[in-house]
Amino acid sequence: MKVLGLETSCDETGLAIFDSEQINNDNQGLVGQVLYSQIELHALYGGVVPELASRDHIRKLVPLLNELLEQCDISKNDIDAIAYTKGPGLIGALMTGALFGRSLAYGLDIPAIGIHHMEGHLLAPLMGANPPAFPFVSLLVSGGHTLLIAAHGVGQYEILGESIDDAAGECFDKVAKMLGLPYPGGPNVAKLAEAGNPDAYALPRPMLHRGLDFSFSGMKTAVHNLIKDTAGSDSDPHIRADIAASFQYAVVDTLVKKCVKALKQAGMSRLVIAGGVSANIHLREMLEAELAKINATVHYAPPALCTDNGAMIAYAGFERLQAGQSDDLAVSCIPRWPM
Ligand code: KG4
Ligand code: ZN
Repeated sequence: MKVLGLETSCDETGLAIFDSEQINNDNQGLVGQVLYSQIELHALYGGVVPELASRDHIRKLVPLLNELLEQCDISKNDIDAIAYTKGPGLIGALMTGALFGRSLAYGLDIPAIGIHHMEGHLLAPLMGANPPAFPFVSLLVSGGHTLLIAAHGVGQYEILGESIDDAAGECFDKVAKMLGLPYPGGPNVAKLAEAGNPDAYALPRPMLHRGLDFSFSGMKTAVHNLIKDTAGSDSDPHIRADIAASFQYAVVDTLVKKCVKALKQAGMSRLVIAGGVSANIHLREMLEAELAKINATVHYAPPALCTDNGAMIAYAGFERLQAGQSDDLAVSCIPRWPM
């Protein structure tokens, strides 16, 4: 089954073809993908402008589909089903992909299915080589979510903990702004942190000893005060690097300790990390080291499948269709959609 995946929930237009008959190839069934990032467009405003995002998705969807079909050397008539991101995300941006996908499926007389964006992230690591088996604990860390989930199977997700305020990625983005780094913040903070000392400043680890929920807004305020005290945003580059490294360490340390706690609580030995922040090298290294101590393993997708992309939506669509699900002709997107 060849599934076309469409991701348009925010500022990336991602399209991909997943073919279940090619699961054993080098790319685990992913026969092709194209990704267009609107980063440059939104960088001018320091964050995503929803209306501009929708307009850009509309502009890019048809040319990207043609490029993808050419890359995969197939015609649109070879597609067996279409999966599109139904939510959560920016409503206008979601509607572009959903309407495009649903209409194309109607025209081709094939099934279509709307996918939860975070389920796409959650399942993406299963597309890698040696995919982890269910059950596992999943840490979903993106610009909009920080979730700890016990995943018992496809569609069987039990939420163990979540952020009560800002998401981890959002916190990275806000701290980047405070440090005068360009959008998107996460990778830029991580880069600056490479030159800094993670022990330079002691930042809080919010809610560390209270269950499995997270809170990152206090961390943001602490960094804000630190920057004010050290005049770090526009002075010594070493101070800025030390602030970035201390901040990154505080977030990563908090995430890692909660993951260890979640694995113990769920009685599981596999951790899967997904979402944009899971591309963070410091997080990966620290998880590998700490989980080895409790005989648990950590699994993640290749970096290109950690941030938003069409492949994860195609794969999640395949799994859902395989389970006999599909959506009717009505197109309904859900901008705020709990997992
Ligand atoms: O999953 P994603 O691409 O989009 C959402 O669904 O939100 O995640 C984007 C988030 C942004 O907040 C970005 O700053 C963060 O992931 N991010 C990172 C890194 N790469 C992306 N945060 C920390 N370190 C990174 N290397
Ligand atoms: Zn995402």
